[in-house]
Amino acid sequence: MLGEDGADVSTVLLAELRNALPVPLGAQLAAHEALEHFVLGGRAQDLHAATIVGVKRYHVTTFGCQMNAHDSERIKGLLEELGLGEAAGPEEADVLVFNTCTIREKPDTRLAAHLGNARVLKEADPERVIAVGGCFAEAQREHIFELYPFVDVAFGPGSISHLGDWLGAGGVGVERGSFGIAGERGFAAELPARRERSVQAWVQVSMGCNSVCAYCIVPRVRGREVSRRPGEILAEVETLARHGVKEVTLLGQNVNSYGRDLGTDFAALLEAVDAVDGIERIRFTSPHPKDFRAPVITAMAEVNAVCEHAHLPLQSGSTRILKAMRRTYGRERYLRLVGDMRAGVPDLALPTDIIVGFPGETERDFEETLEVVEEVGFDGAFTFVFSPRSGTEAATMSDQVPDEVKRERIERLVEVVQRIAQERNEERVGEVEEVLVEGPSRTDSSLLRGRTRRNTTVNFGGSAAPGELVPVLIEGATSTTLSGSQSVPVAA
Ligand code: SAH
Ligand code: SF4
Ligand code: F3S
Repeated sequence: MLGEDGADVSTVLLAELRNALPVPLGAQLAAHEALEHFVLGGRAQDLHAATIVGVKRYHVTTFGCQMNAHDSERIKGLLEELGLGEAAGPEEADVLVFNTCTIREKPDTRLAAHLGNARVLKEADPERVIAVGGCFAEAQREHIFELYPFVDVAFGPGSISHLGDWLGAGGVGVERGSFGIAGERGFAAELPARRERSVQAWVQVSMGCNSVCAYCIVPRVRGREVSRRPGEILAEVETLARHGVKEVTLLGQNVNSYGRDLGTDFAALLEAVDAVDGIERIRFTSPHPKDFRAPVITAMAEVNAVCEHAHLPLQSGSTRILKAMRRTYGRERYLRLVGDMRAGVPDLALPTDIIVGFPGETERDFEETLEVVEEVGFDGAFTFVFSPRSGTEAATMSDQVPDEVKRERIERLVEVVQRIAQERNEERVGEVEEVLVEGPSRTDSSLLRGRTRRNTTVNFGGSAAPGELVPVLIEGATSTTLSGSQSVPVAA
């Protein structure tokens, strides 16, 4: 049911009624019954699990970035509040949730394969609920039920609570639901969480993005940037710390523009999070180079808990291509920023994101990217082949780069990135690094696994519990990991 402006009428109605109605849940639930099972307000967790008929176990499949990993923890928390338990796999689940990504074509294709399996499961048991959430669901909100007729409910990343409302209203047997940013948008962070990691946690600081990067679908699917209030962020961090979390990663599409809408800034937030007892490490992702200003560099240099680590997306080393991408910085400005960051934080680890084959990228432009990669010496990079996304400016640019050229360029880029990452990691051999212990090594259970402040995974021999910070002598390196042994500090 869509209004003239594209807003979901039922959601708008709900919002209006919520404002008009007094808070008591009973009144809301009475109205909810009157309006054909649409929940009129109050959060899903206010609803009693008994309202869900025959649905007991859920399974969430997550695609995409850290923001989606965070959102999936909230989806799980919400489902558990509704009385569902986690199933080992989709086959055993009554509610199958796909938290999707649509940043490139590849995640869309992977989703199609997963949904093919879901369809078979739904055919075997039509009572199963198939829910598609996240960025693909938002981008395809108008088409999702045509594309995948067996899907019961679709919800965008800002509308996770509506999944709970919809399920709470009865799940199977009620009208299909479709919820997105045209209706009500909320911070996933306000929902309950079922966290996947014990000593580390994601903390959402903003939602949406005000940038206009020509290739990127994110602003369309996550909406304009809204900062979360510092008090709410700090209250969450304090709770996490009380539960034994030692490391938080502050999440936003552009953390450096955090707070502009609230009259505060990211540097102040870093200091405030550092002041929370028990938080030993603070990371953030992603910063946009255009907004990376001196106070944040100073905070990185001076605030104890802020790690020597910044993921700093380059995208391209060619000023001409950066301009066409609307990144609003050029090669020289990026390099100056790196210089300033390294002057403030000498031991800084700098990984990045790079796209090859943006429309109009010539061999010379690509060589400039390779030059910047060499000059900066990135500690790692997520490398992407440009993928045209419908609705973005770059998708309709005329001078698209042929697939075979893109493929050849990404192979060359990956080779250089890996060589440099290996060299950077080898420089750590012989050093003693502070490692936050996460648990047993994934490849050899006789070893422990942890992370350095520079965010490199270390597999090491020693004895320590998850959450402990221990010194580890680094003895070996690959392009992505380090190895070593716990060292006993020598008394002075
Ligand atoms: N907000 C973050 C993350 C954006 S998405 C940031 O600005 O850093 C993560 C990465 O995906 C981007 O940095 C970019 O390198 C890549 N990406 C985004 N859109 C893409 C597209 N259409 N094709 C290929 N890579 C893309
Ligand atoms: Fe996309 Fe650019 Fe926003 Fe990152 S900053 S989410 S790349 S539009
Ligand atoms: Fe993340 Fe993919 Fe959405 S990268 S913001 S999940 S489109």
